[in-house]
Amino acid sequence: MKTLTNISLKDLTTMKLGGNASFIAEVYTKDDVVEACNSASSQKLPIFVLGGGSNIIARDEGFNGIIVHIHIPGFEVIDDDVNYTTIKIGAGENWDSVVERTINMKLSGIEAMSAIPGTAGATPVQNVGAYGQEIADTMQSLTAYDTKTKTFVELTNTDCEFTYRYSIFRGVSTGRYIITDITLKLSKKQPEPPFYSALQNYLDKHNITAFDVKTIRDAIIEIRKNKLPDPIILPNTGSFFKNAVVGKQQMDGLRAIDNDIPVFEMNDGSYKIPSGWLIEHAGLKGKLIHGIRIYDKNALVLVNESAKSYNDLAKARDEIIKTVHDTFQVQIQQEPLEI
Ligand code: EPU
Repeated sequence: MKTLTNISLKDLTTMKLGGNASFIAEVYTKDDVVEACNSASSQKLPIFVLGGGSNIIARDEGFNGIIVHIHIPGFEVIDDDVNYTTIKIGAGENWDSVVERTINMKLSGIEAMSAIPGTAGATPVQNVGAYGQEIADTMQSLTAYDTKTKTFVELTNTDCEFTYRYSIFRGVSTGRYIITDITLKLSKKQPEPPFYSALQNYLDKHNITAFDVKTIRDAIIEIRKNKLPDPIILPNTGSFFKNAVVGKQQMDGLRAIDNDIPVFEMNDGSYKIPSGWLIEHAGLKGKLIHGIRIYDKNALVLVNESAKSYNDLAKARDEIIKTVHDTFQVQIQQEPLEI
C-alpha cells in the first residue's frame, strides 16, 4: 500500500473542484484495505472510499482523513453453465473495460451500461443504470470489508436493498462497508426488443434489426457520445440530478402545467419524471450560472466551465433547484455524493 499526503481532490474527481485530502491510501489488495482502516482508527481519522471520482463532488474545505483509493484488480469466471456465466470482478477494475470484456465473451446483462465512467466497485453504491439495465439486475453478491466488525462479509443482492439510484451503501450503511469485489451473473441469451425507447429510436434510425450484445454496446456508445460530455474535456459527473419521483396528485398538477411531460410509471404507482426535461422547460438549458454550464445537449448534466470553487457549484445547483421548484413545484435532488 502506498500512502501520499496532502493530495488535491480536484485532481481525483471529474468535476475538478474541491480542496485537499490529508492522506490518500492507494489500495491494491484486501490486505491493503485492512491496513488503511487500521491506520485510520489508530490516528482517529475518518475514511472516504474513492473509485474513479466520476460521481463525487469535493467540497472546498477538503478532507481531514484518509481517502481509500481502490485499485483492486480481478476478473475471474467462477461459474459457467449452458445459460449463464458468473464472473467475480475486482472493485478497482475500470467499469467500461469490464463491459467490453463481457461483450467479447458474448454475454448479456450490462451491455446497455457501456461507456459509463468509473470503477466496477462503485456501481452498486448508487445502483448505476442506463438504457433499461441497472447493476441490480445482474449483481448476485459482493464482498466488502465491514469497518464496524472489522471482517470481510459477503452481501447478497437482496442485502443491498437496491431501488432507483439507491442501495444501503448510500442509505442506512453509508460509510460502513468498503466493497472489494462484485459478482455478476450474465446471460448467454442475446438481447431482444423491446428496448429502452432512446435505444430503439437509434436502432430504427440506423435500420439495425439484427441484435447482439456488440450491436447494442456500439449503439449505446454513440448515443452517450452525443448526450454526455467526456469528463476529460468538459469536467462533469454525468447526471447531476436524480430524476424526480412524484405521487398521483403532483403528477396531475404537472400535467395541468404541461400535458406533454415525459413520464415513467413505477411499479409502486408513483411517477418518475426526467429532471433534464424539467430543467430544460424551466428555461435553463445552455445557461452559464456561476461558471457552471447547463449542458446544451442534455440539461441533466452540469459542466464545470469556469467555476472557481465548490461554492460556485453549490450556488448554481441551488439556483437550478429553486427555478425548477418555482416553475413546476417539484423538488429535484443532487445525484453525486459529496466528500
Ligand atoms: N430530456 C429533455 N431535456 C433534456 C434532457 C432530457 O427533455 O435536456 C428528456 C428526454 O427527451 C427524454 C427524458 O428527458 O424524454 C429522459 O431522458 P434520457 O432518456 O436521456 O434519460 P435521463 O432520464 O435524462 C437517465 C439516467 C442516465 C442514463 C439515462 C439513459 C438518471 C439520473 N440518469 O437519464 O444516467 O444514462 O437515463 O438510461 O437516472 C448518470 O446517472 O450519470 C446517467 C448518465
